Amino acid sequence: MTAGEGTARVGGTTRPPAAPGAGGGPVPPVVELRSVSKSFGRYDALRDVSLSVPAGTVTCVLGDNGAGKSTLIRTLSGLHRPTSGEILVDGEPVRFRGPRDAIDAGIATVHQDLAVVGQMSVWRNFFLGQELTGRTGTLRQREMRRVTAGALREMGIDLADVDVPVGSLSGGQRQVVAIARAVHFGARVVILDEPTAALGVKQSGMVLRFVAAARERGIGVVLITHNPHHAYLVGDRFLLLNMGRVVLDAAYGDVSLEQLTLEMAGGGELDALSHELRAGR
Ligand SMILES: Nc1ncnc2c1ncn2[C@@H]1O[C@H](COP(=O)(O)OP(=O)(O)OP(=O)(O)O)[C@@H](O)[C@H]1O
Ligand SMILES: [Mg+2]
Repeated sequence: MTAGEGTARVGGTTRPPAAPGAGGGPVPPVVELRSVSKSFGRYDALRDVSLSVPAGTVTCVLGDNGAGKSTLIRTLSGLHRPTSGEILVDGEPVRFRGPRDAIDAGIATVHQDLAVVGQMSVWRNFFLGQELTGRTGTLRQREMRRVTAGALREMGIDLADVDVPVGSLSGGQRQVVAIARAVHFGARVVILDEPTAALGVKQSGMVLRFVAAARERGIGVVLITHNPHHAYLVGDRFLLLNMGRVVLDAAYGDVSLEQLTLEMAGGGELDALSHELRAGR
């Protein structure tokens, strides 16, 4: 089977190449890592990793436990400083001193725990840390409710009541609210750390639809996942990490789901294991 055959994609087909920039030249990726390494003492968690996130694309980062996925997103989101290599935003080298610098550059990270406050209403959570206040410091509640409902609707979620506590939403809905929040507050890149890991089929589908919706709005998405099937539904590019190194970097059209699954499962290692476990049976 060739790449894409028999596999429906969420939100349309492969992206066309990036539109030319204002000056006619190609648009640089929103964010890019060039030959980034990250060591913790003598341990190299990332080795010579390059990754670019163009606007309006989904880059999936796959890899087994300990492969370096979280280290990679922590580097992109300003939590870790590279030991060597460069980070570029809009083609210009930058140095993130902390998460604030990454957020200011338009890079939003939706962590697995979502940092949401369960008892807080959806609209309070949506505006958490960025509340709209009147001149006397009073919260502009009605406006925040309206904006929250509108932002969610724009992303295709119709929540009957934005006053319900976030904790009462499904895991998938919570992810979606977090994505809508990042988009609303101007993120140009949204990094999602295993958003479908704890979800069933239906809820995973909902989250993946939002990944596709964010891409359609021109956002660059970085999707961390263990699941090659999920990756293949929305990914434009796939990066597979193994012990901190990039072992596969392929565009959607250049890799099949079977290849991706096999690589993800350890390829040759799985063959050897099969021989061992099947021996004598
Ligand atoms: N702050 C740290 N100090 C020391 N070692 C670290 C640190 N953070 C990560 N590591 C090591 O770097 C390696 C990569 O870890 P990382 O968390 O990036 O993996 P991962 O791909 O996210 O794994 P998982 O799928 O389990 O989340 C691991 O061996 C880990 O022990
Ligand atoms: Mg991790």
